[in-house]
Amino acid sequence: MNKVLVTLLLTLGITGLAQAAGDAKAGQAKAAMCGACHGADGNSAAPNFPKLAGQGERYLLKQMNDIKSGNRNVLEMTGLLTNMSEQDMADIAAYFASQNMGVGAADPALVKAGEALYRGGKLAEGMPACTGCHSPNGAGNDAAGFPQLGGQHAQYVAKQLTDFREGNRTNDGDSMMMRSVAAKLSNKDIQAISSYIQGLH
Ligand code: HEC
Ligand code: HEC
Repeated sequence: MNKVLVTLLLTLGITGLAQAAGDAKAGQAKAAMCGACHGADGNSAAPNFPKLAGQGERYLLKQMNDIKSGNRNVLEMTGLLTNMSEQDMADIAAYFASQNMGVGAADPALVKAGEALYRGGKLAEGMPACTGCHSPNGAGNDAAGFPQLGGQHAQYVAKQLTDFREGNRTNDGDSMMMRSVAAKLSNKDIQAISSYIQGLH
């Protein structure tokens, strides 16, 4: 992706969505039923349930809206958000964003390959490094809608990359930022990069 496009996307990202201000304290009570899968503080125990703790507020709210509308298909959450208002979801997003994402461990055998892909991309194939959008330490860039990756469960990350590649997750929008990145990743690449991300901080 070229620099002009990234700049344009950043600009659109910052001005594109009016966001209700979330109240983290109110959100904690409203998030009680989410804890069964995502953990009470957003650090889920099961590796197929994404950690929400410390994730960007804006990204969380976008995902909730996408899941609610069916734009992103999450079977396990069917109906859960149907009766939530925009304010409820903004409060929940603020609550999880105020927590800290715990870091896991990377498989030592995969670190080198994972790091090379995360930091260097595959330039010969036109795939940019992940650092450009998700930042070198994996913290993301919430103002631009780029999620935090550092510390996320490898199993969940691998599923997302595969879903983007296979066209099963399409809510990266018309710009197809993640679908075009994931199109360049082999299964082996995905395994290495996901393991690296789990230990990244
Ligand atoms: C029965 C288990 C379950 C419950 C309860 C649940 N979720 Fe989820 N949630 C999931 C799964 C599984 C995924 C990831 C699906 C996938 O692989 O794409 C997910 C994904 C998400 C995501 C996207 C995270 C990301 O990093 O993109 C958000 C945000 C989210 N859930 C919020 C909530 C909120 C808020 C609640 C409570 C109102 C909730 N979930 C309750 C299972 C659950
Ligand atoms: C041009 C910017 C850009 C680049 C480069 C990029 N990403 Fe992304 N990534 C995004 C955006 C934007 C989203 C959120 C899409 C959405 O709103 O659903 C995202 C989402 C993701 C997600 C889903 C996170 C979650 O919690 O569900 C993963 C995993 C991911 N990216 C991994 C990577 C990896 C690995 C690389 C490098 C190989 C990479 N990304 C490169 C912009 C980028």
